[in-house]
Amino acid sequence: MSKLWGGRFTKKPEEWVDEFNASISFDQELVFEDIEGSIAHVTMLKKCDILSATEADQILHGLQTLYQKASDQELEFSVEYEDIHLNLEKLLIDEIGEVGGKLHTGRSRNDQIATDMHLFLKRRVQEIIELITELQEGIILQSEENIETISPGYTHLQRAQPISFAHHLMCYFWMLQRDKERLIDSLKRIDISPLGAGALAGTTFPIDRSYSAEQLGFGSYYENSLDAVSDRDFIVEFLSNSSLLMTHLSRLAEEFILWSTEEFQFIELDDSFTTGSSIMPQKKNPDMAELVRGKTGRVNGNLVSLLTVLKGLPLAYNKDMQEDKEGMFDTVKTVVGSLKIFNGMVRTMTVKQQKMKETVSNDFSNATELADYLAAKGVPFRQAHEIVGKLVLHCIEEGCYLKDVSLERYQQYSPLIEEDIYSILAPYAAVERRNSYGGTGFEQVKKQIKKGKTLLSEN
Ligand code: ARG
Repeated sequence: MSKLWGGRFTKKPEEWVDEFNASISFDQELVFEDIEGSIAHVTMLKKCDILSATEADQILHGLQTLYQKASDQELEFSVEYEDIHLNLEKLLIDEIGEVGGKLHTGRSRNDQIATDMHLFLKRRVQEIIELITELQEGIILQSEENIETISPGYTHLQRAQPISFAHHLMCYFWMLQRDKERLIDSLKRIDISPLGAGALAGTTFPIDRSYSAEQLGFGSYYENSLDAVSDRDFIVEFLSNSSLLMTHLSRLAEEFILWSTEEFQFIELDDSFTTGSSIMPQKKNPDMAELVRGKTGRVNGNLVSLLTVLKGLPLAYNKDMQEDKEGMFDTVKTVVGSLKIFNGMVRTMTVKQQKMKETVSNDFSNATELADYLAAKGVPFRQAHEIVGKLVLHCIEEGCYLKDVSLERYQQYSPLIEEDIYSILAPYAAVERRNSYGGTGFEQVKKQIKKGKTLLSEN
């Protein structure tokens, strides 16, 4: 076999050197995008009379055959031909003869690979956006069931104030909304065609870049040929958006893991998203949530890898850039998988409403209610805080909670405390009264859910 670029060479690299250089083991993932890019390129060459109609049609026919074979998984790639571009060109020439060698007229692998990556990422980002929407819908469904589920709200992982469980879940809805908006915005920078930039400087052929961009469904094309072949910002941006998305999923994963422990017992994950132990028969492990939390590490790593690859690169193309692919493929796979897992987990989990209620009824997370009660009666908040602090200390010594303190005792601490304090201290009332905009009050949570649903119906 001779190399497609063999003319200038008197020696071939040894097989193990070819192995090191080759990207075909992973860039074959771009097979469809690469053929589509070639079809658009040849269609343009024909339209601009750079290739005759007969030649172009022969090539187009050959490319369509390759596309079909790729769909049927009938193409065989070889390390000798290094990457997806050279492999496909070789297969094309095998398929239709010498004329296949005209495909690369006015094009380079540098604008070709950039085109493939733009096409690929545009599609995958659109898929990811849809998966985020599905997870958001799952969160809304679970939230609607739990508006009046009173659960402990935490700061520093110490019980802080009671909140609606739906309020807690909806917080993730908004994180995901921002993730989605970032991905939607990034499409502007992904949806650009590098095709026709050539190796770096453009081409002497009278090509029509706007036409090939249009063939591929791109919204625009690069203004600068050097930029077209050197830009990997759109991949860095995708990796960065993915890191943040995974960070959000990882935080939710951590909460699911915690909440499903014997110590918390706030939720039970469905059997279909958990595993057992090979030795301990009683175990039900939250493996899927743990894996999402763990896989966040590799996504963060992929971002740092690419930034590091790019940081010292002179213009224009350098082979270092071949390292942009595996991390991107891996991130797409990880993000898609994690979103699907969470969508399933959120929809199928059991919320242990009674257990949450009991928990929040037997703690001091209603202490702020008492302080607010005194402040509303004119006691400066700082003093009210002090009084309640002393009462909490008293309760800890007595082994009771604020709801158990007698009115007589309360009045020793402040004569302003009256009989109505007991209804004020009830966790349900505490949640209900937090009716400030965006607060955990039921009315606010309902508004939030409604707004979320409207957003989902818009996109
Ligand atoms: N396999 C290469 C990559 O993934 C394609 C571009 C090669 N260009 C070149 N001039 N060697 O980056």
